[in-house]
Amino acid sequence: MKKPVFDIDHATRILRNNDLGGYTIPTQGLYPFQWNWDAAITALGWMEAGDEARAWLELEMLLKGQWDNGMVPHIIFHADADTYFPGPEVWGVENAVKTSAISQPPVLASVVKILFEQGKDRALAEQKLAQLLPGVMAYHLWWYRERDPENTGLVCSYHPWESGMDNSPAWDHPLENVPAADWEYTRRDTGHVDAAERPHKHQYDRYIYLVDFFKRNHFDSDLIYQTCPYRVQDIGIISILHRANTDLLVLCQNRIDNDSTRSLQQSSARTAAAIGALWSEDLNCFVSRDTLTGAQLKTISCAGVLPLFGELASPAQAAAINENLGSWIEDAPFGLASTHPHSETFEPQRYWRGPSWLHINWMIALGLDTYGLSERAAQIKQVSKACLANGDFWEYYNSVSGEGCGGGEFSWTAAIALHWLKD
Ligand code: GLC
Repeated sequence: MKKPVFDIDHATRILRNNDLGGYTIPTQGLYPFQWNWDAAITALGWMEAGDEARAWLELEMLLKGQWDNGMVPHIIFHADADTYFPGPEVWGVENAVKTSAISQPPVLASVVKILFEQGKDRALAEQKLAQLLPGVMAYHLWWYRERDPENTGLVCSYHPWESGMDNSPAWDHPLENVPAADWEYTRRDTGHVDAAERPHKHQYDRYIYLVDFFKRNHFDSDLIYQTCPYRVQDIGIISILHRANTDLLVLCQNRIDNDSTRSLQQSSARTAAAIGALWSEDLNCFVSRDTLTGAQLKTISCAGVLPLFGELASPAQAAAINENLGSWIEDAPFGLASTHPHSETFEPQRYWRGPSWLHINWMIALGLDTYGLSERAAQIKQVSKACLANGDFWEYYNSVSGEGCGGGEFSWTAAIALHWLKD
């Protein structure tokens, strides 16, 4: 029998140890609450660990933080914890369930579809789908209504944290337009993790300014759209949203009213029609764009590969990206580096500036498969497995040395390993 790539019991134990009663924290200390896209990915792990009810519960708990306008926030502060900054008092959201005021890449609907298809308990799957669908639909309609009020097809993001790829070099330029927070605060992340693996203070000051900005503007969507000093069309969010639209529309058939589905279909078609604006001829890759200057953000990052997952690339664009992936993996052989290793801004150990993240690799491999690029998909899987060779489940991995970085005993890494890398 083939030896498993990793200790399955260990991965399952991580989920159990990080379970705070219906929701799973990403890791102890560093991230003591429920995060949006982490929850979705982690649900895949619960499913694979054989606990279907627990998988569905993870998503139900996430939607407990949903705002009346449909937004599913990036952090749900279900219970107090003093190991994280900025906490609920800094965000200043007064809802019954405390949350942050921004969202995160909406992989949720794609995960709901997988859980629904894989669930062995059919009655449970039908019941949970019916229960979750209205909230998930409201979330998608929110993205287009609030984040694309001009109907361009390309939703925008107001904070690097919203991208889930906090300090990607793609955000360096647009962040220059954001003032620094004007008060003293104490970061907690660098108390848990080596500062060399985290964002710089210069960036953090601007992250906090934006958090204050939302609060100062009373979370008013129109005002924020008109005046936010950071407004970016993020190719990662746009791609993940587009894939999730398609998955959601499949789930909606005969289950949800036609007005919502028609509206989502139209928005999704607008995205597909507009995506060409985010293709960079000189980089042979998709990129994000600063809507305040109109400039493309010229970084070759893993987000620029996600249009394959979103089925937004033409066959010719997919082929060009695939070619690019050759040198990308050759020079940073552990997983797919979050920034191309030939880039000047590449740092193999620093968070979203070079390490590889296994849940991203999973989406990219799925995207490659969709385009029939199965050899490359298999290679991505192989190099992702290589990250797990030391037997631990880290937040992310140094893409050159394979060393684990960031937080340890990490939920989404364990979950995606169970879901994707077990065989
Ligand atoms: C970091 C990551 C983000 C993730 C969160 C919790 O902020 O950049 O993507 O959701 O940690 O794991």
